[in-house]
Amino acid sequence: MSKENKTIPLEKIVALSKRRGFIFPACEIYGGLANAYSYGPYGAELKNNIKALWWKKFIQEREDIVGMDGPIILHTKLWEASGHVGGFNDALVDCRKCKKRFRADHLIKELTGEDMEGDLEGMTKVLKEKELKCPECGASDWTEARTISMMFKTEMNGVEEEVYLRPETAGAIFVDYKNVLDSMRLKIPFGIAQIGKAFRNEIVARNFTFRLREFEQMEIEYFIDPEISWEPLFEEWLEKQKEFFIELGAKEENLRRYEHPKEKLSHYSKKTIDWEYNFSFGWGEISGLAHRSDFDLSQHSKFSNQKLDYFDQKENRRFVPHVLEPTFGLDRAILTALVSAYSEEGEGDDLRVVLKFPRKIAPIKIAVFPLLKNKPDLVKKAKDIFHNLSKTYRCEFDDNGNIGKRYRRQDEIGTPFCLTVDFDSLEKDNSVTIRDRDTMEQERIKIDELENYFQDKF
Ligand code: GAP
Repeated sequence: MSKENKTIPLEKIVALSKRRGFIFPACEIYGGLANAYSYGPYGAELKNNIKALWWKKFIQEREDIVGMDGPIILHTKLWEASGHVGGFNDALVDCRKCKKRFRADHLIKELTGEDMEGDLEGMTKVLKEKELKCPECGASDWTEARTISMMFKTEMNGVEEEVYLRPETAGAIFVDYKNVLDSMRLKIPFGIAQIGKAFRNEIVARNFTFRLREFEQMEIEYFIDPEISWEPLFEEWLEKQKEFFIELGAKEENLRRYEHPKEKLSHYSKKTIDWEYNFSFGWGEISGLAHRSDFDLSQHSKFSNQKLDYFDQKENRRFVPHVLEPTFGLDRAILTALVSAYSEEGEGDDLRVVLKFPRKIAPIKIAVFPLLKNKPDLVKKAKDIFHNLSKTYRCEFDDNGNIGKRYRRQDEIGTPFCLTVDFDSLEKDNSVTIRDRDTMEQERIKIDELENYFQDKF
């Protein structure tokens, strides 16, 4: 029996993540704080590997995209120009009886299937007229639906006005557009990419790390000539986004596109399509692609009184570029990788839980075991091999329990290879046993040939 991804309830991922040190509630000793999570040792490795894969795919391997890293707290004018101050709101509704707060459009979608995002009056009406029941206490006594800002405010010594924690990484790219363009002599079309934290005061953070208040994004602003036909590029970007999720281990049948209906698009957007993943709680957005026209550069140009255009030397033409924005949520990419990798084989005492991560993103690449922990020669040889391989790969040394238990533990954290040093290694063949996570097949490899053996494996 093998149960794979979409049928795996999120609770199994939550439990495994905590048990094996991927992700756990932050500040648990103080009772936790509002759905905040920490990435533990394996979670941090996984996160770094996914970031590295993204950076390699979208920056390193391309001629047309450069990376940057801007601050979390940026000039407040930026967020006024982008429309976030005053406009980045969600609809809130309270249950008068149990005082529980809900995001109104999500609640109505859950209870009726209707998508009422943006229609405050309509939401208030539906909640009352259909006497929708509070999922928490069963009462039907709702406040009016009203908007609430998702911007996190804070203060900065020496700065008079309120400042905000950035709600997206994109802002820093737009305000640094000119510096990047001037210093890198980029030719259109070109992209500027960034990975970093973003903060949103979500009404309800839920579904584990799917909806957080503090999360990470990986975003690209791809600047194009407004006169080109952009549709083929848009399609190319969508395919690249899909490719990335396939590289993380997602199965094609668990990915789908969702095109934002025309009437819901921002006035400046020509097209927006999300990539959704089939989680056990339903299809959820993991990535998006938007045509943002020249909205951002024009707004920042207006608010800053600076020219933010592009001069095309070949055509002797000056224009404000249009933008295609491929955006990815890093925490949602991690969740996608975890859910996609999770598999159960066998049953009862024979149950084998395996995270079948693609090797590139596995937190630990090779686990090194001495057959027995109380035999100094075995331990020494295994440690030598561990230190040697650790120069190139993230390895783990483990001498606890019997080999079967050690295999199970490494299966649960998704380690592609386990390497065991036994008595034959020392006395007979100067070789070790390498066991493959997915096939569970074992082979003997000479210690001198380990470097070669692993060279093309990751
Ligand atoms: N700059 C465009 C932008 O921020 P978005 O659709 O609001 O677009 C981009 O966010 C991505 O960030 C989403 O596709 C999602 O993966 C991730 N994301 C958004 N809100 C999130 C949250 N509260 N928790 C975790 N990830 C989130």
